[in-house]
Amino acid sequence: MNLLLYGAPGSGKGTQANMLRDRFGIPHIATGDMLRAEIQAGTPLGLEAQPILARGQYVPDDIMIGMIRNRLGKPDCAGGFIIDGFPRTIPQAEALDVLMHELGCSLDRVLYLKVDVSELLQRLSGRLVCPTCQRTYPPSTAACASDGTPLVQRDDDKAEAVRPRIEIYLSKTVPVLEHYRGAGIVSEIDGRGTITEITGRVLAAIGENGRFHA
Ligand code: AP5
Ligand code: MG
Repeated sequence: MNLLLYGAPGSGKGTQANMLRDRFGIPHIATGDMLRAEIQAGTPLGLEAQPILARGQYVPDDIMIGMIRNRLGKPDCAGGFIIDGFPRTIPQAEALDVLMHELGCSLDRVLYLKVDVSELLQRLSGRLVCPTCQRTYPPSTAACASDGTPLVQRDDDKAEAVRPRIEIYLSKTVPVLEHYRGAGIVSEIDGRGTITEITGRVLAAIGENGRFHA
């Protein structure tokens, strides 16, 4: 099962991807998590990416396309994957089409988590993240449920970066959805409600036996 989670910053992509990974045992490929790992490790890419993420801007397409090409070519992706955070631009979407063709696979479903901007702002301002495994948690959570690490705020969840992230999503990433609508593989999911309610909607969109519902 090859899934793509699509939605604005704070729409719940990471939250639902973690559930899907645990349930279906397929890798969660999150380009934001990969970039933060590079930053934490102090690699040349991490040094280049750090100020871009902190400002809420996008890392150049050629870097991101190279990163996803490398990751999807790994053996653990052969049985399916969940992509989160890519593609964010039309050139990235076109490159993913080419890559899927080269790998002899295709996207089964694009799961679009639809959430109002006011709710996004509220979620991002309170969000906490585990610096070890990158799982995200609501406000006031003390430690990671998975590994016990104390939680921190992400640099780009500080007030000055949140608005630019939403603005660049609206200008560069909204057109990506149209790219997939043309292919008839988008499930639009109401992203309002509790995490459990949205999980139910995501699983319903995926279907029990490989049948997908728009
Ligand atoms: P990335 O890490 O992908 O960030 P994002 O798209 O801004 O999305 P988030 O991770 O902030 O939100 P999410 O949808 O995962 O929501 P979450 O589940 O955490 O990218 C970061 C940066 O990297 C980009 O800005 C860019 O600079 C760069 N980058 C990455 N990919 C790139 C690419 N392809 N090209 C160029 N640059 C790239 O949920 C949010 C909060 O809400 C959490 O606290 C959660 O607990 C809570 N929550 C979730 N669901 C609910 C619910 N139903 N009700 C209440 N609270 C909820
Ligand atoms: Mg995320």
